Amino acid sequence: MCGIVGYVGPKRAEEILLSGLARLEYRGYDSAGVALLTPNGLRLIRQVGKISNLAQAVQEAGITGNLGIGHTRWATHGLPTEENAHPHCDCTGKIALVHNGIIENHRELREELLSRGHRFRSQTDTEVLVHLVEEEYRGDLVEAVRRAVARAVGAYAIAVVHVDHPQEIVAARLGSPLVAAATPDEGFLASDVPALLPYARAFYFLEEGEVAQILPGGLRVWDRHGRPKEVRLREVPWDPLSAEKAGFRHFMEKEIHEQPRAIADTLRSELSTPWEEGLSGLDLSPVEHICLVACGTSYHAALVAEYLWEPLLGLPVSAEIASEFRYKNPAVGEKTLVVAVSQSGETIDTLMAVRGAKAKGAQVIGVVNVVGSALAREAHAVFYTRAGLEIGVAATKTFTAQIAALELLGLWLARARGLLREEELRQAKERLSRAPRLVEEVLELAPQIEALAQKFYTYPNFLYLGRGLLYPLALEGALKLKEISYIHAEGYAAGEMKHGPIALIHEAMPVVVLYSAQELPEKVLSNMQEVRARRGILLVLADHVNPEVEELADHLLRLPPSSRELLPFTFTPALQLFAYHVARLKGTDVDQPRNLAKTVTVE
Ligand code: F6R
Repeated sequence: MCGIVGYVGPKRAEEILLSGLARLEYRGYDSAGVALLTPNGLRLIRQVGKISNLAQAVQEAGITGNLGIGHTRWATHGLPTEENAHPHCDCTGKIALVHNGIIENHRELREELLSRGHRFRSQTDTEVLVHLVEEEYRGDLVEAVRRAVARAVGAYAIAVVHVDHPQEIVAARLGSPLVAAATPDEGFLASDVPALLPYARAFYFLEEGEVAQILPGGLRVWDRHGRPKEVRLREVPWDPLSAEKAGFRHFMEKEIHEQPRAIADTLRSELSTPWEEGLSGLDLSPVEHICLVACGTSYHAALVAEYLWEPLLGLPVSAEIASEFRYKNPAVGEKTLVVAVSQSGETIDTLMAVRGAKAKGAQVIGVVNVVGSALAREAHAVFYTRAGLEIGVAATKTFTAQIAALELLGLWLARARGLLREEELRQAKERLSRAPRLVEEVLELAPQIEALAQKFYTYPNFLYLGRGLLYPLALEGALKLKEISYIHAEGYAAGEMKHGPIALIHEAMPVVVLYSAQELPEKVLSNMQEVRARRGILLVLADHVNPEVEELADHLLRLPPSSRELLPFTFTPALQLFAYHVARLKGTDVDQPRNLAKTVTVE
């Protein structure tokens, strides 16, 4: 993971680097550093911990410069120490480099470089790159970087500066993202758009294998074969103000409350696209099965789509965990439609699954939030979720926006297969357009949910149960709780409980049950009885309450009733708010939970 920022121009580089790093902190936050070109040469400042520690160290050092690179780290090789923090320098101290990715042949390269007298100061895989640039440097930094990365195997996004090149940053990428921007007298570089939103609105997204030179007022780019490329910038419509908390305590809380707009924007933008246009570029006639690939929360959205699409489309539909899918030699080919779901569009497991399926002839639709991301570029067709920038590491508004997009995509596919008439499609879209209002109704229950969190935040374990469509939502509810509150939580298909997890139930075990009139209510009631018979504590989220539910539940949260396809929009916000308030009461770092990163670009 990790985040990179670079700046060259008339302003104080350290300020732009630190503000950019703070906006990229979601990519990793165990240590950070900057290299600044000062009148006395390159100055390196690195600190363990968050960007605030680095900011203080930069202030205390009192240095400034007009060229610099910065980095926030998510450790892969080597502990999060100051020596392992980036930037890394070559033996002469004239070159500094930051890196996001993993160099797989770093051991061989290190041996070779050591035998030629290079001195290493860290345990990172990255450091070999800066020594390779040093070896290859003969006065042309672009050429040196090109030759150095040609020797590396693995994934990289790098930024390199040299004391003898006070007006340029050289960047290269393969497998890890980089965006560049230029204003009339400045040049910028970053891992992701949010870092640069206060300074630029149009960006160049580096392609695989490209090398770029970032100059004050301009960019030069070479393709993987070293040929110069025409640089076309792409406008990104995000508002920098959306990166502020707007009165909420955490970004996660704000983003939970932004869901009605995120869903409405997603539905509105797609509603204005005729389905034929949205699916153009694909040939659906040979498709005999659909495979959704994704990771984490996006996988749960994919699983929702599996439950909705299979009966709708009359085709086998399966949701697959991308990191498993790519290595199991899946039976996909020209008859397969792959739908890859990813907020960032940069998750390496999902990208590799897509590349593998494409190589076997499958067609790919990307459901993506980040404009211009790798998945958006590599898919044959793209469905954008319009959730806007999500800063909280735990996905919230992007999850419900993904479900909105997948529901609509399912309708398009049904229409394209002749299973829905135009009028039926219109009516189904009409029903879907109720989703934002339903979310608003659930958000109004926030005080009740907070009161429930107050009762439950000290418990060390939770079980979440649901059937049908509510099963992926139970998985998502459990994932939200564990990732932000560090409480152990398991999501289970309610019918599976008796096959093992029932052994966990005792008088101090809270069981969160998702109960709906739409999904096997009688069966779920039996599962609740089974919990009750073992003295488990039943916290029931129900969109339909009868005397039996009322009697069984120790704690009950009533959700608005809805139709089956709208269940994700009532249950999800309640589960998110519950996890949020539990974590807040526990005092964990809600927006940046330990060990996590928002964009996962390592396998
Ligand atoms: C959990 C979470 C992660 C991501 C996963 C995939 O809250 O955010 O589980 O869903 O890392 O990320 P994307 O959607 O960017 O591919």
